[in-house]
Amino acid sequence: MVTNILVTGATGNVGQEVVRLLSLQELPVTAAVRNPIEAAKSFGSNVRCILFDFTNPDTFADAFAGINKLFLVRPPAIANIHKITPALNAAKRAGVEEIVFLSIIGADKNRIVPHYKIERAIEQLNISAIFLRCSFFMQNLNTTHREDIRLRDRLFMPAGNGRTSFIDVRDIAAVAVKILTEVPDKSKGELSRNRAYDLTGTVALTYYEVASIFTTVLGRQIQYTNSSIPIFVWQMLRQGFSWQFVLVMVGIYTTARYGLADLVTSNVHQLLEHIPISMQQYVEDYRQCWLCLQPIAVG
Ligand SMILES: NC(=O)c1ccc[n+]([C@@H]2O[C@H](COP(=O)([O-])OP(=O)(O)OC[C@H]3O[C@@H](n4cnc5c(N)ncnc54)[C@H](OP(=O)(O)O)[C@@H]3O)[C@@H](O)[C@H]2O)c1
Repeated sequence: MVTNILVTGATGNVGQEVVRLLSLQELPVTAAVRNPIEAAKSFGSNVRCILFDFTNPDTFADAFAGINKLFLVRPPAIANIHKITPALNAAKRAGVEEIVFLSIIGADKNRIVPHYKIERAIEQLNISAIFLRCSFFMQNLNTTHREDIRLRDRLFMPAGNGRTSFIDVRDIAAVAVKILTEVPDKSKGELSRNRAYDLTGTVALTYYEVASIFTTVLGRQIQYTNSSIPIFVWQMLRQGFSWQFVLVMVGIYTTARYGLADLVTSNVHQLLEHIPISMQQYVEDYRQCWLCLQPIAVG
């Protein structure tokens, strides 16, 4: 049977890479997006793009028609489980047989995060469920923190001296694609229908160590500013981030500050059969993002 895979969050950090890897293998992949015309321009003709919005149930039937596997990304702005479950129920009704969910490390124990409730909702569908419980993305440094590094030469977060087991989203996507495309080896028994993997990098680094890697690779001094929480909140709001997003960041960095973000597992290495991408490699690959180009004087 042909596997038809639908990817939500297909324009985001992880989904975009999942779509790219699947299309490189010339596998049937559909990007579920809010703007199919724009998405089609960047994905090219190998990728089918379809209108999908978690908040608009009218988009569900067409998006899930003929799909048997779903790579599920919860948009960060949607914290309310009741805005996710209608799509999950529609997927089940349409005949989706497997969901690979981009979750967060510790989601099995932390009832506060939306991922906890989403995992339980997926389990209740009684279809194959694989949870990728990921640590903190390296790519937060070229998205959320990009301008601080590029323009102010600083890593600015209230993470104290805590360690974080950063992971590169390219490794997460590679794991997701491996799982989405795996064929059960009948001689070794069926793969378990429900699985969860804690996915992390190989080491847990302090932000002082991360700043030192940036300094070496970029060839200019990058400082870690170990901010207090009130100053962090004030400055992030001033930079235009929403209250909701800033509070999530405070939660994440407080977790790191208290030494709760340093779990390292070997799952990525075992699944991909290569060592996870290091922070050094990530900064080298993305160095263009933080080049401090001076504006050109006119006249
Ligand atoms: N950042 C971390 O360190 C980290 C670590 C572990 C887990 N996670 C989890 O990973 C997920 C985020 O993944 P990401 O960083 O790849 O995402 P992302 O880059 O923030 O992208 C979010 C995606 O969601 C789409 N989207 C937004 N609203 C939507 C809606 N109403 N209906 C359908 N699609 C919508 C966006 O599409 P548009 O182009 O239309 O806006 C975009 O493709 C979150 O659940 C987060 O909690 C994050």
